[in-house]
This record gives sequence, C-alpha cells and structure tokens, in this order.
Amino acid sequence: MKTSRKALLMAAALAMTAGAFPLMTIVGHAEVLDGHQIAVDANGAIRMPEVDYRKEWVALGSWAVAAEEGIPGSQGIHVVYTQPETVAAYRKSGAFPDGAILIKELFTATTSDMTTGTISRANETTGWFVMVKDSANRYPGNKLWGDGWGWAYFDAADRINTKTTDYANECMACHVPAQNSDWIYTEAYPVLHGE
Ligand code: HEC
Repeated sequence: MKTSRKALLMAAALAMTAGAFPLMTIVGHAEVLDGHQIAVDANGAIRMPEVDYRKEWVALGSWAVAAEEGIPGSQGIHVVYTQPETVAAYRKSGAFPDGAILIKELFTATTSDMTTGTISRANETTGWFVMVKDSANRYPGNKLWGDGWGWAYFDAADRINTKTTDYANECMACHVPAQNSDWIYTEAYPVLHGE
C-alpha cells in the first residue's frame, strides 16, 4: 500500500539521520559489540561512552578498598560495569567479545554505624578506568592500544580527554596477575560465570 511504503521510508530515513547503530552485529561467527562506535574515534582516541551505564549496563562486581590501619571500613569502592551483551557473549564463549567495554568507576566511601553494623557506602565518583576489547589490532602504534585492549583513565572532571598516554607503562604491570583471564580480574565478577 502507498501509505505504509511511505511510512517505512520515513522510518528508514529517521533511523539514518539519528545515526542509529545496531547494538551488536555479527561478523562471521564472532559477535562485535558497539564499543568502538561509542567510545573510540577513527584514530583510536578513547573517551567515556555517552551512556547511562549505571542504569543501562550490568554491574559486574565491586571492590572495597580498606581504609588506613586502625580506621574501620573502606576508603573507596570500585564498581565495574559492562554492556549486557558482553555478559551474554562471555557466558557462551568464555571470552570478552570484540567491542566489549569495561568501566571501573572509582567512588570515595563513607563509613558509618548502621543497623546492620559498621557499613561503608559509595559516595562521590572521582574517575573511571576504561578498557575496550580489540580483537583486530585496529590501532597499531597507538600507545593506548595493545594486548587485545584499549586502555584509558579519566578524571571525573573530563570524560573526553584521557589522562593516559602509554598503557604499557601506566596500566600493564598491575594487570599481569590477571594475564590468564585476558588481563581482567574476572574472579570478582560472578555474573560472567553463570546464574
Ligand atoms: C596500581 C595497580 C593498577 C594500575 C596502575 C592499573 N590497574 Fe586496573 N586494576 C587493578 C586491580 C588490582 C584491579 C581489580 C581490583 C581493584 O579494582 O582494585 C583493576 C581493575 C581494572 C578494571 C576492571 C576490570 C578488571 O580488570 O577487573 C579496569 C577496566 C582497569 N583496571 C583498567 C585499567 C587501566 C585502563 C589502567 C591504566 C590507565 C589501569 N587499570 C591501571 C590494578 C591496576
């Protein structure tokens, strides 16, 4: 019918002007997530993705940073998030799919006596560590990229420009203990390992 064809064309035009990308595309048998589209430019510069990750993504797990000796509770809490599609793909294959993003959000913590005991809770966000899975070695020579990932840190005040200049010097050494799980501390992320 004439009208439905017109409606279809309009919908297609709208989708194109809105720059709509599919969340996940299939290349061969491998799933490719939207990480490179939402967090990386053509030269490999990494930015914080413009997404409400606290609401739209999966919280993989959290880490409590103990306070100084003699002070109760935690001085910081790290919460790690990823796209929901990462969890689905990881459960199927046991590996992080190309385009997966991991965000580690840094919170200061506040500790107080509550009805459950001495309890620390997340307070202010001070920054983010971001990793983008790159199975295709897209940016050889770019010092934010290598070992299968893009690596970048952002202060809370600037989500666009990373403070990281060279991941090999600024990130790698600390992630060596997690080398056998693709540099990620997966033991703290139970949702990856099944229901
Ligand atoms: C001082 C050591 C250290 C440095 C430097 C470091 N990391 Fe980590 N990173 C860790 C540890 C340990 C964890 C897990 C426990 C935690 O959060 O403290 C972690 C966790 C992460 C996570 C959550 C996913 C995971 O691996 O479990 C991301 C993302 C991350 N780091 C990215 C980076 C990036 C990007 C850099 C460099 C800009 C970097 N890290 C530098 C030690 C470090």
